[in-house]
Amino acid sequence: MRAWTVASPDDGVRLREVPEPTLQGGGVLIDVLAAHVPAYTKAVVRGNRGGLPVPLTLGPACVGRVIDVAPDVFGVAPGDIVLDTALLDAGDGDAILVGWVGLGGSGAGSERTDRMRAVWRDGVFAERALCAKETLVRLPGAERYPDPARLSFLPWLCIAASGLSAAGPLAGRDVAVIGATGQLGGAAVLMALAQGAATVTAVGRNQRALDRLAGLGPRVRTHRLTGDRPTDAAGIGPVHVALDTLGATPTPDATMAGYDSLRERGTLVLVGGVRQELPIPYGDLMRRGLTVRGSWMSDEQTVTTVWNLIRSGLLDLSAVEPLPVGLDDPAAALDLAERTTGLDFVALLPAPAPQPVTPGRG
Ligand SMILES: NC(=O)c1ccc[n+]([C@@H]2O[C@H](COP(=O)([O-])OP(=O)(O)OC[C@H]3O[C@@H](n4cnc5c(N)ncnc54)[C@H](OP(=O)(O)O)[C@@H]3O)[C@@H](O)[C@H]2O)c1
Repeated sequence: MRAWTVASPDDGVRLREVPEPTLQGGGVLIDVLAAHVPAYTKAVVRGNRGGLPVPLTLGPACVGRVIDVAPDVFGVAPGDIVLDTALLDAGDGDAILVGWVGLGGSGAGSERTDRMRAVWRDGVFAERALCAKETLVRLPGAERYPDPARLSFLPWLCIAASGLSAAGPLAGRDVAVIGATGQLGGAAVLMALAQGAATVTAVGRNQRALDRLAGLGPRVRTHRLTGDRPTDAAGIGPVHVALDTLGATPTPDATMAGYDSLRERGTLVLVGGVRQELPIPYGDLMRRGLTVRGSWMSDEQTVTTVWNLIRSGLLDLSAVEPLPVGLDDPAAALDLAERTTGLDFVALLPAPAPQPVTPGRG
């Protein structure tokens, strides 16, 4: 079968013919229906985000259809539509993202995460994939969802939802998303609206992307980052919740503007890829009763909740714009992904037409 592989640390992503995956204990074989290609995939492959366990088939998450399951797998069955979240969590901080960079806990890894990565290495940018059963969440009724490409945004929506829920219920509260012009930020704006936020302030540099977010409805405000922390804080707040979804920034100023914009007893949640120390003043945090939290990936319960929001129509994915690509030209696909912003994203559709299978259990 065809797959996007990375052979060595100095290799790029290449389309290669690889052996068909075969079932092993705890494993589930899936047809990959659609996979979101993150905007920063090129940076991941270049090694800018930590080490990839090469050689491997790349790809952190997808929507797929179960073809076969190992005898010890009971939670999913052939025909089910599933989300592969890539997250394999052994507990006590030992968690890996299969087919990707990123380790749980301190991020340093351990002898146990090395062993996990030795068994569960290959990701989902391929026609088919063998997934650990723990990385899969069933999406009941998704076999009737008309557009798998759009549904492949689900992992980013779930990561955003986990970050937002770390700040408590959002209904009637004012929320800011710092980095809303990126894909995680765009997902967070959609999630906060679906969860009843009174206002959602979309914060970023890209005016076109901000304008598009403003078009989502009257509860969306925008603030274009100026780079001046006091000006940005005044433009963003006051808010009850600030969610930081920024990529790698040269300074912590945009994140700190989010912190400054909090109301008393507000919460700043860190979800993004900022690699800066945050200069948080002890007395200010203490007197204003603020909370600063982190959030990494999402859990099964969140996936089910977000899928139910989509299913019920409360979260309308017509706002997102998948740009479909096939497996043929990974370099062009990664270039395109790098140019996407906000609610646009590259959706890899590995197979031209899925094989007919037994219907899911609904
Ligand atoms: N915690 C988790 O579980 C988790 C999961 C997935 C991803 N992440 C992290 O989340 C981050 C964002 O992911 P994404 O998919 O949204 O990436 P993305 O689409 O590339 O978005 C990056 C965002 O960062 C902004 N940005 C980048 N450099 C900036 C700068 N110098 N100044 C101000 N803004 C800047 C971008 O603004 P412009 O639009 O103006 O360029 C955009 O809003 C990634 O770094 C990733 O590592 C975390």
